[in-house]
Amino acid sequence: MGAICVVGTQWGDEGKGKIIDYLARNADVIVRYQGGSNAGHTVIVDGKKFVLHLVPSGILWEGKKCLIANGVVVDPETLLKEIEDLRAEGVESKGRLFVSDRAHVVLPVHKLLDAASENNSTTLKLGTTLRGIGPTYGDKVLRRGVRIADLINGRSLRAALERNLTHANAVLEKVYDMPPLDIGRTYEQYLKLGDLLSDYVVDGVEWLHGALLAGERVLFEGAQGTLLDVDFGTYPYVTSSNASVCGLGTGTGIPPRYVEKVIGVAKAYTTRVGEGPFPTELKDALGEHLRKRGSEFGATTGRPRRCGWLDLVALRYAVMINGVDRIALTKLDVLNGLSTLKVCVGYAYGGRVYRSFPADLSVLQEGEPIYETLPGWDELGDAKTLEQLPQAARDYIAFIERSLGVPVEIISLGGERAQTITVPE
Ligand code: GDP
Ligand code: IMO
Ligand code: MG
Repeated sequence: MGAICVVGTQWGDEGKGKIIDYLARNADVIVRYQGGSNAGHTVIVDGKKFVLHLVPSGILWEGKKCLIANGVVVDPETLLKEIEDLRAEGVESKGRLFVSDRAHVVLPVHKLLDAASENNSTTLKLGTTLRGIGPTYGDKVLRRGVRIADLINGRSLRAALERNLTHANAVLEKVYDMPPLDIGRTYEQYLKLGDLLSDYVVDGVEWLHGALLAGERVLFEGAQGTLLDVDFGTYPYVTSSNASVCGLGTGTGIPPRYVEKVIGVAKAYTTRVGEGPFPTELKDALGEHLRKRGSEFGATTGRPRRCGWLDLVALRYAVMINGVDRIALTKLDVLNGLSTLKVCVGYAYGGRVYRSFPADLSVLQEGEPIYETLPGWDELGDAKTLEQLPQAARDYIAFIERSLGVPVEIISLGGERAQTITVPE
């Protein structure tokens, strides 16, 4: 059976958690394949809010199995706390949450280096989530990372930590003038964490291929968004993984042909948290209005999110990269009460009009967005079908579909499961 992949099409926080939870009803297995605890995926069930960082957003459905695959960077302490927090709410992960033994481990030194780099005047300030994501992926690629498999095997843990910390300690001391970390103490601490996690650890490749062979319905959960993808995003203002569907293959060991459908999650406007270009950003009262109405504050760090109009140039680019088959349009309700709405259809820069998303950040930073203006609407009410939406909202959706050449299949009008419209084929 073909799998479904849900990806963010903007700069993250599109409402992926809500959409994945909504779709998980009809899945057997939900899989995270990249990112780490920089993600904050909100799911609201009967008024109760859950924010998931590492555990896939399918966990709230009883009996569903969840896998944290090899492409994710796992902070063992954060994961164990998340498991405990879920348990306190009556959600048991044991027996249905699994972690790949090939996933890389976020160490305390990675978080120290993340913060040191953010606070240093000689390095680029990105506004990271300070979860150690960049340094962990960096060590993975530089072949001095520590994997979950090492945590469960004392001998390889010792060797991996020595390899890692010998170098990292030199950087702490010589570059940042900070005290080195004690390898022996880190070893004892992580051996214990490995012991606590051991019940969850599997060979992720065998596990997931087994599920697919058994005909289980698999749902892949992207974290962050395409514009934060390390290859396709607004580099260097990106995260350190492939947040587009491109991360799925390397992040799981599943060949692309298993993915039958890609659902791109797009907010009805745009937000971004952290530094980096954002052509349609509204730095005025309207931006403030969207932030307030949309409760646009980071689910992981609590930082206010920057808000702006929908950018169809960026969205079309994300649709191409991900091969998006259907759009899930979220937070349409946040636009209620605005008399007119703008959508960006190009950037004017240097006497030229750009209709495609450029690699050159100057175009995004200094260019002028070219807008089309559409009529707004008052209220969406508790519409249950597309037809029950006001005409202006339907026109807004139709404009997006025409611009992207992709149908909108899911429309979200609130954080709750019931505040969702599925548009029939
Ligand atoms: P994610 O990282 O993509 O999963 O998104 P976040 O959870 O970080 O941010 C999305 C926020 O919007 C959460 O607080 C959700 O509860 C909320 N949300 C999701 N869909 C809707 C919607 O359709 N309308 C409104 N008003 N809020 C929504
Ligand atoms: P979800 O999955 C929004 C941003 C950070 C920063 C940049 C690099 O909830 O959509 P990092 O800590 O990854 O090295 O930070 O990426 N960022 C996110 N922004 N949503 C996220 O995740 C994000 N994860 C990272 O703010 O600009
Ligand atoms: Mg989020």
